[in-house]
Amino acid sequence: MTSATHLTHLLTLDSISPEEMENLFTQARLLKLARATASKSAQPLAGRTVALLFEKPSLRTRISFEVAARELGANSLYLSWQEVGLGQREAVKDAARVLGSYVHAIVIRTFSHALVEELAQWSPAPVINGLTDSHHPCQGLTDVFTIEEQLGGAAGKTLAYVGDGNNCAHSLAQAAAKAGMRVRIVTPKGYEPSPDAIASAQRDAALSGGSITLLHDPVEAVAGADAIYTDVWASMGQEHEAEARRAIFAPYQVNEALLSHAAPGVIVLHPLPAHRGEEITDEVIDGPHSRVIVQAENRLHVQKAILRAAVAARRQAALTA
Ligand code: CP
Ligand code: NVA
Repeated sequence: MTSATHLTHLLTLDSISPEEMENLFTQARLLKLARATASKSAQPLAGRTVALLFEKPSLRTRISFEVAARELGANSLYLSWQEVGLGQREAVKDAARVLGSYVHAIVIRTFSHALVEELAQWSPAPVINGLTDSHHPCQGLTDVFTIEEQLGGAAGKTLAYVGDGNNCAHSLAQAAAKAGMRVRIVTPKGYEPSPDAIASAQRDAALSGGSITLLHDPVEAVAGADAIYTDVWASMGQEHEAEARRAIFAPYQVNEALLSHAAPGVIVLHPLPAHRGEEITDEVIDGPHSRVIVQAENRLHVQKAILRAAVAARRQAALTA
C-alpha cells in the first residue's frame, strides 16, 4: 500500500487524508472482490497477532475484525477487559507498552476517548478505535465506502443524517466531507454533534467541494437526499436516558412518510444494532431502499484494508527507527 502506510493509529478520522481514505477503499474493493472470487485468501499478515480489548458489547466490530485478521493470516486474541484492567490493575502506559510489544495491532472499544488516546500514546503497536463515546472511525469509513459502492460514487451526493449527534454522526460527517458529499445533520435541539468534529469535517468539506449543514427540521434535511442515515437514539452507556429520549426524538423517526421526501433511489443506512420501531421502522429497514446488511458486511472488507495499512505502517516505522 502506498500512502495508506501513513496510517499508524486510527483514533478518529481527523488524521486521515482524503487520498488515504480512497486508498483504503481501493484496497477494500479488491479484498471484497478477491473474497467473492478466489478459493483461497492471500495471507499478508501471516504470523501477526491482533488483540481486541472491548469494554462494551459488540457483534459487528468484534466478529468482523476477528474474521478479517484470520482471513489475512493473522491470529486474533479477544482479551478480557476485567482481567487486563487498563488503568486500574496497572497504569495505561505500562499495559500499553507491554501489550503493544506482543501484538501487531490493538483494536479497542471503550467509553472514554481519552483512554484510547493514552493507549495510543504509549503503544508501539497501532491502536484502532473500535468505538468510543465520541468516535467510530471504522464505521464512518465503511459508511462512505458503502455509499460509493451503492450509489456509484459519493462526491456531490446529498447525505442526511437523522437523529442523535453521536459517535457515528461524527465519524460519518468526517468521512463524507472528505468524499465531497453534501452532508445535512438533523437533530433535536440540544443533541447536535460536537463542534470539534463538525469543524474538522467543515475543513475537509471546504477542500473537497462538499458541505456540512446542521438542521432541526427532518423533512428539510431529507428533501431530495440520495442517502439517509440513522442510528439509535440512546447509545451504549445512555440506557438510563432511553425513555426521555424516545419522546424527544419521535419526530426524527426514519419511516416511509419521511422517506417520501427523499430522491426516488434513496438508500437507507444504519450502523446496527437498530431499535426497530424507534429510530427506524420495520418497513424501512426491511424495505427496498435499505442497505444495512451490505453496510455491515462491508465492515469486514474495510477493516481488512485498515489492518493491512496499520501493520505495514508499524513495520515501516520499526525499520526506520
Ligand atoms: N455497528 C457496530 O459497531 O456494531 P457492533 O456494536 O455490533 O460492533
Ligand atoms: N451510537 C451507537 C453505535 C453502536 C454501533 C452506540 O454508541 O451505542
